[in-house]
Amino acid sequence: QAADPVTAIRAAQLIDGVADQPLRDAVVLIEGGRITAVGSALPIPEGAQLIDLGGATLLPGLIDCHTHITGDPGDYYESLVRDSSIDVAVNAHLYAERTLLAGFTTVRNLGAPDFVDVALRRSIDEQRTRGPRIVAAGHGIGATGGHADFTGLSPSLRFTGFTGVADGVEAVRLKVREQVKYGADVIKMVATAGVLSEEDSVGAPQYTQAEMDALVDEAHRWDRKVAAHAHGTEGIKMAVRAGVDSIEHGSLLDAEGIRMMKARGTYLVADVYDDDYILAEYARLNYPEKILDKERQVGRLQRENFRKAVQAGVRIAYGTDAGVYPHGDNGKQFAKQVEWGQTPMQAIQSATGHAADLLGRSDRVGRIAPGRYADLIAVSGDPLKDVSELERVQFVMKEGLVYKRNGKAQLP
Ligand code: ARG
Repeated sequence: QAADPVTAIRAAQLIDGVADQPLRDAVVLIEGGRITAVGSALPIPEGAQLIDLGGATLLPGLIDCHTHITGDPGDYYESLVRDSSIDVAVNAHLYAERTLLAGFTTVRNLGAPDFVDVALRRSIDEQRTRGPRIVAAGHGIGATGGHADFTGLSPSLRFTGFTGVADGVEAVRLKVREQVKYGADVIKMVATAGVLSEEDSVGAPQYTQAEMDALVDEAHRWDRKVAAHAHGTEGIKMAVRAGVDSIEHGSLLDAEGIRMMKARGTYLVADVYDDDYILAEYARLNYPEKILDKERQVGRLQRENFRKAVQAGVRIAYGTDAGVYPHGDNGKQFAKQVEWGQTPMQAIQSATGHAADLLGRSDRVGRIAPGRYADLIAVSGDPLKDVSELERVQFVMKEGLVYKRNGKAQLP
């Protein structure tokens, strides 16, 4: 039997996703979609296909730990009233492709209608659709009238069908089991109120402690991690106490919450770019003033509290809530994370090594190291000097196949 062909990639600099120093004159060897060797000036094996990226910097394929890859921003009422899950499903491949071409080879998708995310994951895994590897949540699970429900609409507009709404300990456990049954890799809990929904509060708890405890207990029994949407100070602590693996948003995180997260190793996934986009675009998209007002309440505080969490040493994973802003712009948050307290290397690691750790997949993604998937990207400048280089990814390889080269998309 013939051995898999060997591919060798050469670049001036390599950031491996975990190590704090870059490697110079890097060579990466790839076989069968996996990385087999990484080193400085390694000899290129005879017969290997060489991809010479010259002065570029090579990095692991990026990971976005919070996306909604099945939807893009649109008119508030149009999308509520006209779009079915089928509309969502026929368009989702576009967003998947844009995400991949932006250098994100893995995403954790935290909420989608009718398991469109699971279907998309399968199509991508089977190489029928171009997109990132998807870690799918199915529906976000939340309370009646809460952020995972539709509130503020006419009672005649009943939303039927499958949703993530569940109330009470037993219903919440059942809802977790349903997500697992239909293919969820991870569970999304909507612990508190949110911004882009019409309930009054922006961050009040929407589950009792008993409901949160039950949800996390059930998810962990099925070996699924839990990501908690939580903006409010108290709701964040309730979710951390329940044992969630990550706090999403974390806008009103206080000093005690920071201490609790540090003590338990809970990750913070803060979508610190979104405020700019929402305040610039969402009035035009007919979002109610009430919602824009909620954004004004949390936007700046979220960034200030993100900085405090970074300074305190809370684990940070990169998550953008893409879908709130256009897919393909996932890289724009790097510069925000640096503006608000991280070094460029820390920001890069939040989307590589640390993100993989949060996913429980450090053995497969998030690092350029032997045994990992050959998920590699390159930028032409030095992202350690200017992290916005990651908004201009020039080369994308996923599992050994090249999807973008010299800044141009190509069919692998
Ligand atoms: N999906 C989130 C919510 O509706 C988006 C929050 C965006 N705002 C922000 N400042 N991060 O709650």
